[in-house]
Amino acid sequence: MQYWKKYSSKILTEKIDNAIQSNVDFSNDTSLGYPASKLDGNVFYDNAPFLKDAPLLRAFVANPNHIGCHTIGESEHAFSGSHELEREALNVLAVDVFNCKPNEFDGYIATGGTEANIQALWIYRNYYSNTFKVTFNEIAIISSEDTHYSIAKGANLLGIESITIPVDFETRLIDKDVLKSHIEIAKSKGKKYFIVVSNMATTMFGSVDDPNLFVDVLSELKVEFKIHIDGAFGGFIYPFNKEKQNIDFSNPHIDSITIDAHKMLQAPYGTGVFLSRKGLISNVLTKEAQYVNGMDLTLCGSRSGANALAVWMILFSYGPHRWFEKINILLMRTDWFCNQLDELDIAYYRHPKMNIITMKSDKISREIENKFDLVPETHDGNNKWYKVVIMDHVEINHLEDLLDCIKKSWKEEPSF
Ligand SMILES: Cc1ncc(COP(=O)(O)O)c(C=O)c1O
Repeated sequence: MQYWKKYSSKILTEKIDNAIQSNVDFSNDTSLGYPASKLDGNVFYDNAPFLKDAPLLRAFVANPNHIGCHTIGESEHAFSGSHELEREALNVLAVDVFNCKPNEFDGYIATGGTEANIQALWIYRNYYSNTFKVTFNEIAIISSEDTHYSIAKGANLLGIESITIPVDFETRLIDKDVLKSHIEIAKSKGKKYFIVVSNMATTMFGSVDDPNLFVDVLSELKVEFKIHIDGAFGGFIYPFNKEKQNIDFSNPHIDSITIDAHKMLQAPYGTGVFLSRKGLISNVLTKEAQYVNGMDLTLCGSRSGANALAVWMILFSYGPHRWFEKINILLMRTDWFCNQLDELDIAYYRHPKMNIITMKSDKISREIENKFDLVPETHDGNNKWYKVVIMDHVEINHLEDLLDCIKKSWKEEPSF
């Protein structure tokens, strides 16, 4: 670990306060040009006593704007203090967690997984059109049927086709021959440039795609491709397992990664992470963003610096070892739940290193779905799966309650 450390609360507070003090101070400085200020003083009192012990809340009230990308070129000087902490958080994620070489990546704290995924698709679409002068209908996105709908949204926005590869019902894996036949069909229809979205934990199943399967098939078929990893859910859990495949920048075919900090990291909503290898993000430079110092290379425009500081603060209050422990507690609870399901003969899918258990729906009633807020795969009446996600607040006693209710429902309704 080069960058990731655990800091005491005193150091965390000092560093956040220093960062905020290095930014423009809308309460005391003369700052006339920005269409921005601190949060409204009638509602967000900046001298409330509880703020004294809450550095991050003070940062929210100060309201830094992190517009733009701060791993490349110039940035707005008014927020340089908190930009520095954003860069520290990105170094932890890109270098220490996802094995990039220092200074060989760009990235930013996006508004969430959807934005980070669309940012990747946008970069690759423009990369192909800038580099090979191709038309958009020669480009296609490839991803599994379990892929998050943000990819379909991005394909629609960017005017490129999205090709969905079916997965095996039980294993949730893509079969190599099935993938090959889909690419061959796409090629026969004129697609030559592919954007692969490989999941590092799908939304419904927590299944993890093998990026090298895409590499093998696309190389064999001699087409151009770029690989983006959607680690929106798995990014803060999968890399911490010891027997993991290296789904990170040590694989030369992987060019970008999405991670969501508002899922496993428990940052406030509106906090995702986008990372890409150096040299790619300039494909989405918006030249018209003349008033932004350093120009804008991101999809969203203005974004909350306080959310970036939240990522920094969570990472540095845990440090790598305590984060590893936290993840392992969740995985132990997941193991426990799977053992109970085995005993009850309830079928389920679980990736061995993930904290999502997706149970077949045939032994679970709608009453139980509603009582425990189980998430169905679909709301269209054909649901076959329910998922349980072992987050921080999901404890063994909650899982025990669920299992007891399932058993009780079987007694009351013997058809289960
Ligand atoms: C795998 C995956 N990708 C992308 C997203 C989209 O993330 P967000 O809701 O933060 O935009 C999600 C959200 O559930 C997800 O699970």
